[in-house]
Formats: sequence, C-alpha cells, structure tokens
Amino acid sequence: MYGNSAITDVQVGIDKIDFYTPNHYLDLVDLAQARGVDPNKYLIGIGQSKMSVAALDQDIVAMGANAAEPMLTEADRQEIGLLVVATESGIDQSKAAALFVQDLLGLTNNLRAIEIKEACYGATAGLQLACDYVRSHPGRKALVIASDIARYGLDTPGEVTQGAGSVAMLVACDPGIIAIEPESLYESRSTGDFWRPNYSAEAFARGKFSEEVYVGMFEGLWNKARKQGMARPESLQALLFHIPFSKMGRKGLRTLGDGTITEADYERLTERFERSIVYGREVGNIYTGSVYLALISLLENDESLNPGDRIGLFSYGSGSVAELYFATLMPGYRARLEPQRHQALLESRERLSLTEYEAMFSAKLVTDGSEQEIKHSDCRDDAPHYLAGMKGHERQYR
Ligand code: HMG
Repeated sequence: MYGNSAITDVQVGIDKIDFYTPNHYLDLVDLAQARGVDPNKYLIGIGQSKMSVAALDQDIVAMGANAAEPMLTEADRQEIGLLVVATESGIDQSKAAALFVQDLLGLTNNLRAIEIKEACYGATAGLQLACDYVRSHPGRKALVIASDIARYGLDTPGEVTQGAGSVAMLVACDPGIIAIEPESLYESRSTGDFWRPNYSAEAFARGKFSEEVYVGMFEGLWNKARKQGMARPESLQALLFHIPFSKMGRKGLRTLGDGTITEADYERLTERFERSIVYGREVGNIYTGSVYLALISLLENDESLNPGDRIGLFSYGSGSVAELYFATLMPGYRARLEPQRHQALLESRERLSLTEYEAMFSAKLVTDGSEQEIKHSDCRDDAPHYLAGMKGHERQYR
C-alpha cells in the first residue's frame, strides 16, 4: 500500500489505544493526613483518590514503550511511518524520546521519529499531525505516545495533583475506535499559568490563574464551535476534558450547566463525564495523556454509548494552547478495548507509605557520568521495558 496518493474522504483516527501506569501509588487520604489537610479536600474538593508514583526505572521512555507494547502487532510495526512522543518530562535536550521508544518497540528504521512539547497539549498536536500524515499516506500508520510524570514537589499545593503514566494511540485509515473530524478549533496565547524551567525537576504553577485560563479557553472555543455549528449539544453524546484533577474538568463542564445547553443535554454529558474520570481519579495527572486516559475511561466504563455516537474532546496545555475537536465512535470499537486488563493494571499496584513515597520522589539519577544500576521496580507482565541504569551520561534501557 506504500505510495498511495493522498485521499481526503477516508476516515482517519484512533485505531488502537492503550495505557500504562507504574505499579506504585499513594492513597490521597494518607497524603491528606500527613499534610494536615481534611481528606475531603482531596477526595471531593480536588476530586482525586490516588496518584501513581514512578520509580526511577519507569521514566517516560520506559512507560511509553510499556503503553504501546501490548497493542502492536508485527504488521503494525512494519506499517508505522511516523512515531511521535509527546512529553513535558523530556529526558534529553537533543535526542527525541521517540528514538529510544522506536528501539524498544522494535519498529523499522523507515519512519520519522520526533518528540513534541507543549505542556498537556502536546499529545493533541501529535495526534492531529498523525491524522494529517495518515491522510496523506493512507497505506501507513502513525504511533502517538503521550508520556509524563507530573511533579510539583513535596508539600506544595500541586502535590495532590501529581501522577505518572502513558497513553499510546495508533492512528490509521478506517480506524477501529474513533474517526477524528478534520475540522477543529484551537487557540494559542502566551500565559504564565504553569511552567518548568530547564533547571527545575518540578513545575511551577499559578494555580488559581491556571484554572481561569483553562476555563476561559474552553468557553471561548465552545462558543465558537456553537456559532459555527460544530458543537450541536443534542447530537453530542459525551464531552471529554483534559483532567489534571477531576474537579478541573468538572469546572469546565459546569460552564454549560447555567442554561447554555438544555438540562437533558447537560445531564447526559455529566453522566458520561463521571465515567471519563474513573481511571484519572486513580492515576492522577499524566499531563499530556490525561484527556486520552479520559477517553479510555469513558469507553471502558460506559455501557450506553454506541457506534456512530459523536463525542467532543477539549485538550488544554498550559502556556497555553487549547483545542476542541470532535470524533465519531466506530463500529466494533468495544472489541478493541481491554477493561479487565486495565482494571488489573490499576488494582495490582502496591500502596506506598508516605515515607516510601517521599523516598521514591526524591530518588535521582547520577549526573556525573558514573555507572548506576537501577532496580527493575515493575515486574508485572505489562511492564517489559525499563531503565536499567546510567553509564557515561547515557540511559541504558532493557
Ligand atoms: P489549593 O490552594 O489547595 O486550592 O490548590 P483550594 O484551597 O481552593 O482547594 C481546592 C478545592 O477544594 C476548592 O474547591 C475548595 O473549596 C475545596 P473549588 O473552589 O476549586 O471548587 N475544598 C474542600 N472540598 C471539600 N471538603 C473540604 C474542602 N476543603 C477545600 N474539606 C490547585 C488547588 C488546583 C490550585 C493546586 O492543586 C495547583 O496549583 N495545582 C496545579 C495546577 C493545576 O493543576 N491547574 C489546573 C489548570 S492548568 C492545567 O490543567 C494544565 C496542567 O495539567 C499542566 C500542563 O498543561 O502541562 C496543570
């Protein structure tokens, strides 16, 4: 099929989707008690229950490869012509994380491998790029991996909104899960709501301001979509949000609950929103993969959606870039999902004590060129890839 000329009327979108999250978590009631906070602030006010914690061996490359590994067949590996790793937890200033992932996944050399950064929006940029690539190379596929470790620091307001994980999406013609509409709405505006300078392992945020920018950009894009006839609430079966913590997405959705849309439409979107946050509440913020974890959560926890249903996705990345786009569920999409395996992935995690969490959070790779051996922390079948050590300033994966 290589060399087919570009086609514009074919459906393109997510053919396969999977996620990985490390095998350790902190229960947020334990965190609340340690920080002298009422647990309901975290459980209800923030809307999170647990957060995944990554040990040193599960960096964004290892997590990304672990997310993609189970879903790729040999044929997929041969057909991938574009590999994008979207991350704001990059491991190198020069070499793309995608090149390490290419190697771990055994992909061919006949592809473009790049890394994309724009905070939590990066994966959406990657996905749209992948859709354009497949539209112009219909015989080929693109793999987009969103991989991040959200770090704000111990005893900071953002601490409760940390998390770690990756989502992998295979983009193809005649996709098995969702077809993505080529027209979407987006906005870029330089803001100082959240950033991480090169010298810092932790992000800085103007928390309340970041919430305002997020909600403002959603409202702006939603109103534009309404005016242009793209966001017809009566025909929208679900609306997904970037979920840094579930209350944030809820605040976005609530802007539609003041009579902007009918009560019936708002109720339907709210019910489906609840199902979209099931996994995120357990994992925490995985930055650029968060809206796609919400997609998996919705599809795997909702029995009432049907092929042909139209859904909206709101992607937001601090700094800030936002995009609102729409997609349609494809026939047979349920057969592509793996709710039992994903449930097991979440349930098989080990609960950390606060001391263990703080030790894991503070662990560091050597930076002086010496050799460091790193213990494989996740021995589940879902995690064959890991960072085994450092040698001469280079990461050694296995
Ligand atoms: P805070 O200072 O802890 O906030 O920081 P708070 O004291 O206002 O409490 C939070 C909520 O809990 C409030 O509800 C309280 O009323 C409630 P709200 O007014 O928000 O609806 N509350 C309680 N509820 C029940 N029982 C109680 C109780 N006590 C209080 N006992 C903040 C919160 C989110 C600001 C902080 O965690 C933070 O700075 N987080 C990081 C920034 C962030 O996530 N921003 C989100 C928008 S930006 C974005 O999404 C992009 C991002 O993912 C990065 C990227 O793009 O790469 C972050």
